[in-house]
Amino acid sequence: MDAVRNMVLMRFPSRAANIGFARTAVALFASQLDFTLDELDEIKIAASEAVSNAVIHGYKGTDGEITVICRLSDEGLEITIQDEGQGIADVEKALEPAFTTEPEERMGLGLVFIKEYMDNLVVDSVVGEGTSLTMTKLPVQAQVRS
Ligand SMILES: Nc1ncnc2c1ncn2[C@@H]1O[C@H](COP(=O)(O)OP(=O)(O)OP(=O)(O)O)[C@@H](O)[C@H]1O
Ligand SMILES: [Mg+2]
Repeated sequence: MDAVRNMVLMRFPSRAANIGFARTAVALFASQLDFTLDELDEIKIAASEAVSNAVIHGYKGTDGEITVICRLSDEGLEITIQDEGQGIADVEKALEPAFTTEPEERMGLGLVFIKEYMDNLVVDSVVGEGTSLTMTKLPVQAQVRS
């Protein structure tokens, strides 16, 4: 990433209540760039899907810590969401639409939404060590200007 113009680091316990906090906090940080309201909604969805995955799948409802790092540069917004939970056995499969390890309860669409709404998504995961998602997005208006 280019020279970082601003950044924020948040670390909080894996509680459902913090999903909404992260969703709003990330969007507030992102609003320093000229994202449209629709783009900010997409960022909110991506952030909350990633944090809820960490709570639900990473830690399976047990206590753990989640780290969210947001960075702004000339390339746009970069968000990293990390857990030190159980990890993903097959990342390629996890990214497939409707793939879920909890078919009774879930749709298997969270990662699909993140891919759809962000410009880029990198999933880094090691079973037993945790998962890190890095996603980037540049405002459409900035893309038009350049
Ligand atoms: N942070 C994580 N830690 C461990 N496993 C994960 C993590 N994130 C995703 N996964 C795995 O990848 C699968 C797909 O994730 P995705 O968010 O696309 O669907 P889902 O969470 O199962 O359903 P939905 O998001 O629609 O409620 C999950 O079922 C889970 O097995
Ligand atoms: Mg999910």
